[in-house]
Amino acid sequence: MTKILGVETSCDDTAVSIVEDGNRILSNLVSSQVDIHARYGGVIPEVASRQHLLTIIPLLRQALQEANTDLKDLSAVAVTFGPGLAGSLLVGVSLAKSLCLALDLPLVGINHLEGHIYANWLRESSPLLPCLCLIVSGGHTELVLMRGHGDFLLLGRTRDDACGEAFDKVARILGLGYPGGPAIERAAIRGDPSSFALPHALLRGSHDFSFSGLKTAVLHLWGGTEGLSPFDVAASFQATVVDILVTKTLEAAKEIEPKQILLAGGVAANGSLRQEFMHRSKIPVCLPPPSLCTDNAAMIACCGYFNLREGRWSDLSLDILPNAGFAEGVGFEPTTQLLK
Ligand code: KG4
Ligand code: ZN
Repeated sequence: MTKILGVETSCDDTAVSIVEDGNRILSNLVSSQVDIHARYGGVIPEVASRQHLLTIIPLLRQALQEANTDLKDLSAVAVTFGPGLAGSLLVGVSLAKSLCLALDLPLVGINHLEGHIYANWLRESSPLLPCLCLIVSGGHTELVLMRGHGDFLLLGRTRDDACGEAFDKVARILGLGYPGGPAIERAAIRGDPSSFALPHALLRGSHDFSFSGLKTAVLHLWGGTEGLSPFDVAASFQATVVDILVTKTLEAAKEIEPKQILLAGGVAANGSLRQEFMHRSKIPVCLPPPSLCTDNAAMIACCGYFNLREGRWSDLSLDILPNAGFAEGVGFEPTTQLLK
């Protein structure tokens, strides 16, 4: 039996989790800073890292208590080293390194984007490989073929704004509040998605994405016409993004013929996106519950379990990598050390 402690502090959520044998969540705590950043309309990095410092130790204590686990029962510590905000990442990585040094435990540095994919393994039956993963978060939009654990092929990514970033910016334009994704989703329920024909950047012949033209089109539409319903604009915007994501993912799936499609990242919590994938895909689609789509530490612990099992772990020289690309890592050394 393995118990892995996951630590995630890449942006504005402080998260700690304990996961048993790679898929059983014993505790999964997220302390959100959303109320603090909402008044600025976005994350203030310095405020985020200070808040992580205040929150992380009490959260660790609570996670151990809820999991009925003592520090000495842990098998390893998995922590996000990037991509993310430097000051925020440092808090989690420093905690993880200190624990590993004091308890003589293996340290597993996790790439946040790879971590998001593993939210799909937090269930009884594992997804089938090879699978096509769509990762849609606040900072990233990536289409990745996963052939095995630690074996990824990046097929496409956004050329400009990330998908979640587009949600956040459009919500701001429409005055719907922060964070934008859930605000747009709530507003869209009250609007008509066919109200406005917005540009669909499908970038034919490539698996890349582009959302900045769509965002600019909303800006011009909203600024140029009096009396528009923000609900209709939100619904039209959401429908356009959902159609782009589903169309492009299914096109890639047709070419690659994966066994499954996996969704990951905060935008994957969007109900309309989830429904549209289930409706249009002939290939089985795996969707983590919405609470595991947004940032959490259970996905980091789960990813840590599989990395460790495959012999990929770090040493105490692990450093943060704020601009890490997909699956880019540091300090990964093959090892023969077995799990406790
Ligand atoms: O994965 P995540 O929690 O953090 C990052 O790694 O960035 O993703 C956050 C992003 C934000 O842009 C947020 O607006 C978006 O995910 N998001 C949503 C929804 N919930 C969160 N976007 C659309 N619909 C949602 N329900
Ligand atoms: Zn994330």
